[in-house]
Amino acid sequence: MSQTLLLLPGDGIGPEVIEQTVRVAEKVAPDLNLEYGAVGGASYDEYGTPLTEDTLNRAKASSAVLMGAVGGPKWDGVERQHRPEAGLLGLRKGLDTYANLRPALCFSALADASALKRELVEGLDILIVRELVGGVYFGQPKGIETLPDGTRRGFDNAEYSTPEIHRITRVAFDIAKGRGNFGRKWGGVCSVEKSNVMDSGLLWKQEVQALYDAELKDMGVPLHHMLADACAMQLVREPKGFDVILADNLFGDILSDEASMLTGSIGMLPSASLSDAGKPGLYEPVHGSAPDIAGQGKANPAAAILSFEMALRWSLNRSDAADEITRAVGQALEKGARTGDIGGSMSTSQMGDAILAEL
Ligand code: NAD
Ligand code: IPM
Ligand code: MN
Repeated sequence: MSQTLLLLPGDGIGPEVIEQTVRVAEKVAPDLNLEYGAVGGASYDEYGTPLTEDTLNRAKASSAVLMGAVGGPKWDGVERQHRPEAGLLGLRKGLDTYANLRPALCFSALADASALKRELVEGLDILIVRELVGGVYFGQPKGIETLPDGTRRGFDNAEYSTPEIHRITRVAFDIAKGRGNFGRKWGGVCSVEKSNVMDSGLLWKQEVQALYDAELKDMGVPLHHMLADACAMQLVREPKGFDVILADNLFGDILSDEASMLTGSIGMLPSASLSDAGKPGLYEPVHGSAPDIAGQGKANPAAAILSFEMALRWSLNRSDAADEITRAVGQALEKGARTGDIGGSMSTSQMGDAILAEL
């Protein structure tokens, strides 16, 4: 049966990095059926909403979805439910992609592009498993209200339930088992929260531990708990001490941006968002639409290309083609291919050329 990849280029540098990814896709998976759709500001401008029902339905019917990026100052004045980011959140929720995998892998050629010393990051290979469709991102009630004295009050609700915590915990343990890095200081799964101040964080810690005790212990995967602020600190002090970091939606968002700088640049970091087996995954770079460089041909397409690599691996069952891409990106970097964010001067398409040349 033929496989369909739905491409949602989105806004800013999104279309620029997706264009290079399509060149790679046509080379390593020529039989893949590529379709296009609109999301984010691009969709709002055309249809008055950042995610149409049609796009969501097509996403649900595809084998995998690859998004570029959404957002930008152009839509700053738009009300929240119509902002580009709402389109992305709607896509995640609509596809129920609750497990967001954000690997932070330092290509050895880039160890000097990191903000940290080479010895701290060389060979770094950690994975953040972020809960993606719950927590404070979606909790109700949320809003901004005007008080009788004319001042305003903004509020969000951070909430998690047992099933939400259990299903993401299972994903983290399954992956940690496959990785087998139990000898590291916080090897196996390191679950992070703020149980010292948040009740949803306390529940998170208790439910992870309870599931571990009841069902996961026999897997032989170590479990650690760490406060999220301490994790932020240890990530720059001793990043190679981690293996799989299990985090809620908000902490996972923040820690993954932090982790991106360990690898050299946010322009290098891909992500996969998975639902239950058999349902389409959503793949996207961790970076945003980068309005400061959009339209200038400066964006690094590697994060998008590596997100496609993750789609080949996790949704399309083509790990050979995925390996081929990982190798080609590493090889291009070895030979000195660099966009501005990683200390070079190549354009987006030149970086695409350099990676294609290794395939
Ligand atoms: P950003 O990731 O867009 O940019 C942060 C910095 O990193 C900028 O200096 C940018 O130039 C640089 N950068 C990002 N990607 C790069 C790449 N591929 N190559 C080279 N440099 C790159 O984050 P931001 O500026 O905080 O957000 C801009 C917009 O993007 C906002 O509207 C935000 O909501 C949105 N956003 C979207 C996503 C997404 O679509 N998944 C993720 C994050 C932010
Ligand atoms: C990300 C982004 C999104 C998030 C925004 C754009 C909604 O920062 O994918 O990391 O906060 O999840
Ligand atoms: Mn983010």
